[in-house]
Amino acid sequence: MTQLDELEFDNVQIDQHGPIAVLTVNRPRALNALNADTLSEIAQAVNMIIEDAEVGALIITGGGEKAFVAGADISEFGDLEGVYDGRELALAGQDVMHQISSLPIPVIAAINGYALGGGLELALACDVRVASAGARLGLPETGLGLIPGFGGTQRLPRLIGTGRALDLILTARQVRADEALAMGLVNYVADNALTKAREVAEAMLKNAPIAVSLVKEAVRRGMDTTLEGGLEIEADLFGMTVATKDFREGVDAFLNKRPAEFQGE
Ligand code: CAA
Repeated sequence: MTQLDELEFDNVQIDQHGPIAVLTVNRPRALNALNADTLSEIAQAVNMIIEDAEVGALIITGGGEKAFVAGADISEFGDLEGVYDGRELALAGQDVMHQISSLPIPVIAAINGYALGGGLELALACDVRVASAGARLGLPETGLGLIPGFGGTQRLPRLIGTGRALDLILTARQVRADEALAMGLVNYVADNALTKAREVAEAMLKNAPIAVSLVKEAVRRGMDTTLEGGLEIEADLFGMTVATKDFREGVDAFLNKRPAEFQGE
């Protein structure tokens, strides 16, 4: 089987250390902007990651010193004509973001610089966001005559509330990492976003993988339904965890005052 870090893409790099895969969007000359090729490479890389049973957590970050991802590639916008092309571009980006947000393993954005437009939308598709102290985040699309098209109008208000999301989108302003932390847009601010993201991934990897995956499913499906519907989903998935070997192991480990060793079964 091909090792993940042997895969060769032009604009995406994957490094794997044990159960943690790091996907780096690597076009620093364009601040890692998402052109069509890069989006397609991210989709292919994520597909390979899903199939690799060794990978228990994914970190997404940006190559170079300045940016996580500075948005969709504006230099390709000249080719867009009319409603149909615009809709196709949005759907293509949304598909990739959906693919990431649906992964059964934890996904952490290590925001090491600018996360703007489609770049912030990529970070919003992750489960947890870690920003470096110098990061700048925003959805500047209205300043280009656009609206966010890779999920920003939907995921941002679900994360930080309608009022804050509308403020950010309508002003098109960039926020610094400390303000992003205060509004719940990022979970952590650290000197080195990647190092902190690894720490967070390691903490998640200590827990039972099936439970971790089902938590993601419960939260994701629950956000799209009523409280009552969400509680039903939770009960169903709770029932599934009780049927796992890892649940027996977790309880036995607790009662015998030893660390649990989960097998993902
Ligand atoms: N698309 C294409 N190229 C980009 C880019 C983008 N989104 N962002 C930066 N670049 C390129 C610049 O054109 C420049 O290339 P050249 O050296 O060839 O001129 C290079 O990256 C370095 O950028 P700057 O010289 O502009 O760097 P800076 O430090 O002066 O500014 C910045 C940094 C504030 C992030 C600025 O680059 C910027 O504003 N970028 C655009 C951000 C943006 O508007 N993103 C939203 C895109 S629309 C979108 O994403 C729609 C959607 O919802 C899907």
